[in-house]
Amino acid sequence: MFLSRTTVAPLKASALSFAKVNAVRAITTATPSITQAFSAQKNANGNYLVTMIPGDGIGPEISRSVKEIFAAAKAPIEWEEVDVTPIVKDGKTAIPDEAIVSVRKSTVALKGPLATPIGKGHVSLNLTLRRTFNLYANVRPCRSVVGFKTPYDDVNTVLIRENTEGEYSGIEHEVVDGVVQSIKLITKDASERVARYAFTYAQSIGRDRVTAVHKANIMKLADGLFLDVCRQVSKDFPDIKFNDILLDRACLNITSDPSLYADTVMVMPNLYGDILSDMCAGLIGGLGLTPSGNIGRDASIFEAVHGTAPDIAGQDKANPTALLLSGIMMLRHMRLNEQAANVEQAVFKTIAESKFLTADLGGRSTNSEFTKAVIGNLKA
Ligand SMILES: NC(=O)c1ccc[n+]([C@@H]2O[C@H](COP(=O)([O-])OP(=O)(O)OC[C@H]3O[C@@H](n4cnc5c(N)ncnc54)[C@H](O)[C@@H]3O)[C@@H](O)[C@H]2O)c1
Repeated sequence: MFLSRTTVAPLKASALSFAKVNAVRAITTATPSITQAFSAQKNANGNYLVTMIPGDGIGPEISRSVKEIFAAAKAPIEWEEVDVTPIVKDGKTAIPDEAIVSVRKSTVALKGPLATPIGKGHVSLNLTLRRTFNLYANVRPCRSVVGFKTPYDDVNTVLIRENTEGEYSGIEHEVVDGVVQSIKLITKDASERVARYAFTYAQSIGRDRVTAVHKANIMKLADGLFLDVCRQVSKDFPDIKFNDILLDRACLNITSDPSLYADTVMVMPNLYGDILSDMCAGLIGGLGLTPSGNIGRDASIFEAVHGTAPDIAGQDKANPTALLLSGIMMLRHMRLNEQAANVEQAVFKTIAESKFLTADLGGRSTNSEFTKAVIGNLKA
């Protein structure tokens, strides 16, 4: 009885989900440009407008710290602070219009963490932002931090995760009582734009290899398509080598010898990127040191990957490093390389000196003291 139900179910399910698949396809097939390079102009004051989404919990504290350090580094930025507390619009969770208008205008934003209730309430605002601005590539570099000892000294990975589809397409349904299906959606267009971004990003940071991470041995159609598209795209980048690896083998290799991945940019479907990027973050000391950038068709949003840390919110104990490093990625995206390099050396110098570390890094200093020390380490 059960067997006959499951043999019927996939047919029923694919018919049911066809409209949704098409809806997602419409999102993912919109004219992909190759690099989504930052093209905004300075305003009359000689500054770029950047949207700041402070977020919840420790978000406002760490955002303040970034603003102070960027101001001291003379980054030509004018912040527009917006609130993304969700509103309900036509029965659906939505981001307030002012926030959307601001990000559309600036095309670049720095975002603190947002609280997401588990299993009820509004949908993930992070997912909503990704969909609203077509943030199709999530870039996560992880580099060992001198002065913060972990079992690994030589981590220098760069991972790019497809951000819009795969297992996160949100197409799920109950076929019959006790049987559910969740559709992993992979499209040629979304795979191509993230693959192109990975090759372009590799060129921009001086790496000469791109590695596709997949499970095409099992998911022959879905991951097979992703891999095939990466292979095709590689032909347009003859100066960059291309190889591929199974996800399980990649995990084994990275945890055995991360230096094997110091010359490449890894690119992969959504769920694999979600997990593998946290694994790499673990190798360098956790999420408190890990930046990320969501590169999109309509805007790019840079964010710390840790959460709102409600246990220490409002106590001046938060470590702003992850948001700062995300801000540095943002400066490079905006081609403000000089200011990026200055803030970066100041952050790493402050951590290496170990005098003003926050508690999560084994120190006793407050966020304000750490921030002051970073400002003190900026080059004039
Ligand atoms: N990108 C995002 O917006 C994002 C990411 C993850 C979680 N969240 C949300 O954050 C909330 C809390 O999640 P959680 O508790 O699972 O994870 P969390 O990352 O907020 O906290 C985990 C632990 O790490 C510590 N921590 C995190 N960031 C820190 C920092 N910058 N400095 C010092 N300590 C830090 C916290 O104090 C806590 O002990 C949830 O609502 C979750 O949905 C948001």
